[in-house]
Amino acid sequence: MAILVTGGAGFIGSNFVLDWLTQSKETVVNLDKLTYAGNLRNLDPVKDNSNHIFVRGDIGDSALVATLLARYQPRAILNFAAESHVDRSISGPAEFIETNIVGTFRLLEAVRAYQASLAQPDASKFRFLHVSTDEVYGSLVPNEAAFSESRRYEPNSPYSASKAASDHLVRAYHHTYGLPVLTTNCSNNYGPLHFPEKLIPLMIVNALASRPLPVYGDGQQIRDWLYVKDHCAAIRVVLDRGRIGETYNVGGWNEKANIDIVHAVCALLDEMQPRIDAQPYASQISFVTDRPGHDRRYAIDARKISEELDWKPAETFETGLRKTVRWYLDNPEWVREVQSGAYREWVAQQYLDVSSTP
Ligand code: NAD
Ligand code: DAU
Repeated sequence: MAILVTGGAGFIGSNFVLDWLTQSKETVVNLDKLTYAGNLRNLDPVKDNSNHIFVRGDIGDSALVATLLARYQPRAILNFAAESHVDRSISGPAEFIETNIVGTFRLLEAVRAYQASLAQPDASKFRFLHVSTDEVYGSLVPNEAAFSESRRYEPNSPYSASKAASDHLVRAYHHTYGLPVLTTNCSNNYGPLHFPEKLIPLMIVNALASRPLPVYGDGQQIRDWLYVKDHCAAIRVVLDRGRIGETYNVGGWNEKANIDIVHAVCALLDEMQPRIDAQPYASQISFVTDRPGHDRRYAIDARKISEELDWKPAETFETGLRKTVRWYLDNPEWVREVQSGAYREWVAQQYLDVSSTP
């Protein structure tokens, strides 16, 4: 038995793979292109685990994907691979269209052919789980009800538009071809192995490096934060028990303004690693020009996954953020490598030894 995970060297994908391999003996085939966001170091704890097969490649490489499907015969595919950073989608949307839309389309085509080739009962037991985002629903005004699964799609950035397009393709492949799909739309994740271009890890690493903490606009934008391991657990229950063709919103009922997040990070650092001059890290906060088209508020109504599949987050924001700050304090080498680009050199050196290509 095997599953195929795409994007399993990124932030959420690597947390998912690491958790999976501690809980299951089922093989994980991990297909990742190793863009700037993919980091094989994230997978160091499983580098000697024979149940982990890493393949460097693109979800849009139809021949490669077809070969992997034929060789490993996965019972499920979990599609994490994506370009994921909103700011990068604003400065350069092309890669987002290429991977998130065209790549997902090519992946779906390969998967459709594979699923059609399976005998029963494997064909009907097969699942394609697409990992998506709450950003497809657009922006909420204050006091507006949180996003439910029936909320209209209103994506506002090239990133969210590309994810929305991929969600629609996944839905269409179920409706038209009967592909057994599941989609999850999750809110903002945080936790270990988060690339320090995103708000929480950026604030931690900048604070420790005595750099400014850039807060966009007035800092009053609201996000709904979920610890990454809780997201991974939600994906596992949707894979196990989710109803085919359904979408499940995943969130932590944890809305916070960005400026409050930054202050919470600073307060933890003040406690866990005070500045040498004993000044508060919050003194490094710097308000900067706002993100163009910046969505004001996201909030997830997670009742469906909770009532139907009995999932709820294990971490509170307080416990999850403390673990996260601790992880960054304990892993300065990971941060240094990611920031210096040294991990890319390491990949070039190491890649041939650790990957397997068909
Ligand atoms: P990430 O940017 O950290 O990782 C993405 C991974 O995908 C990287 O390892 C990268 O190398 C790989 N990748 C990119 N293009 C690829 C391609 N063409 N073929 C194969 N691999 C490719 O992203 P993340 O934060 O871990 O997000 C994972 C998924 O979860 C994405 O689909 C994202 O839209 C979704 N999501 C993220 C969040 C969040 O808060 N980070 C929340 C909800 C949903
Ligand atoms: O909601 C889910 C989404 O969350 C995922 O789909 C995306 O992949 C993920 O990147 C994340 O998107 P956001 O744009 O919400 O995350 P980011 O960490 O980039 O920003 C969080 C908030 O903080 C947002 O309102 C912008 C703000 N921000 C961000 C950065 C990087 C700042 O104020 N300063 C910063 O330097």
